[in-house]
Amino acid sequence: MMFLPIFFFFSLLFSFSQASVVDFCVADFSLPDGPAGYSCKKPAKVTVDDFTYSGLGKVGNTSNIIKAAVTPAFAAQFGGVNGLGLSMARLDIAVDGVVPMHTHPGASEILFVGLLHFQINSGKTNALAIVSFSSSNPGLQILDFALFANDLPSELVEKTTFLDDAQVKKLKKVLGGTG
Ligand SMILES: *[C@@H]1O[C@H](CO)[C@@H](O)[C@H](O)[C@H]1NC(C)=O
Repeated sequence: MMFLPIFFFFSLLFSFSQASVVDFCVADFSLPDGPAGYSCKKPAKVTVDDFTYSGLGKVGNTSNIIKAAVTPAFAAQFGGVNGLGLSMARLDIAVDGVVPMHTHPGASEILFVGLLHFQINSGKTNALAIVSFSSSNPGLQILDFALFANDLPSELVEKTTFLDDAQVKKLKKVLGGTG
């Protein structure tokens, strides 16, 4: 139900653009992305499929360590939003699941502001959230992975987190870090 307005919005943009200047910049995935996003696909090669994305309609797989799944509709997945300064994501959170502490360095978020934040499902059934970002390329930096899925010496991580050696080694092991 949420996806129809999105499609409609882009359809409008697309039809207006025929009469005036091109006001979209569908991602050209054959070129690397830069700070301003992806390069624009040649308008003649743009099709209606570039403005539809059904990923948000699929339930994410929450069989993982955080019991949660983030399904992004960022420029990398949904080329139509490239350059439009917005994006969305779907969060599926199983009971007791959590989206660990993270930031989006390239965007603010409507669910929470773009500062460090996390989501947890403390209810008794699965939770679903659709979020919106102020950038087509918001980024995602999960703090747990930054701290423990690395090969920095454990002593260094202990100093910055005030955790003890056993805790840091345990977290590194769980999240795939070494050292
Ligand atoms: C969900 O992910 C788990 C772990 O990677 C995998 O074993 C399982 O097959 C996946 N389930 C589906 C429905 O894709």
